[in-house]
Amino acid sequence: MKCVLANDHGGVELAAELKKHLAERGIEVVYLGTDSTESVDYPDYAEKAVNEYRKGSYDFGILICGTGIGISISANKMKGIRCALPQNSYASEMTKRHNNANFIAFGGRIEYSEPVTAILDAYLDATFEGDRHQRRIDKMMALEGK
Ligand code: RB5
Repeated sequence: MKCVLANDHGGVELAAELKKHLAERGIEVVYLGTDSTESVDYPDYAEKAVNEYRKGSYDFGILICGTGIGISISANKMKGIRCALPQNSYASEMTKRHNNANFIAFGGRIEYSEPVTAILDAYLDATFEGDRHQRRIDKMMALEGK
C-alpha cells in the first residue's frame, strides 16, 4: 500500500507519529510536509496532497491540521475526493466500508478518546462493501459542482 501525507503547522507532531506507524505497517508514505511549526495555510497542503494522489499509484491520502476540519473541507472541494474526518475507530472503519473514503483527516490539536494510530488502523483494516453503498457514493459524487 502507498499513501500521501500532508499537514499544516498544527499537524507536525501527529504526522511524525503516523509516518512511523505507517512504516511499521509496511505502508509506503510520500510525505509533503510541512515539517515546521511555522504558520502555513492548510488549503495549500490539501491541494498538494490531492494533486500528488491524482498522479496515481496511491491507495489513499492522509491530511492533518489543528482540527482536521479546514484541511478536510479543502480536500473535499477537489473533484473525486471523499475525505473523511472520523471521530473514532467506529467512524473510521465505517467510512471505508460505506463511503470508500479516499482521504482521511485528523486534528493534531484534538484530544481523541483513543490513539489516532488505532483510528487509522480501523480505516486501513476495513474493506469497502460496494452494492448499495456504491449507489450512494455515485449520488454523492454527482453532487460535485452543483
Ligand atoms: C491553523 O491555526 C488552524 O486553523 C488549522 O490548523 C486548522 O485547525 C483549520 O481548520
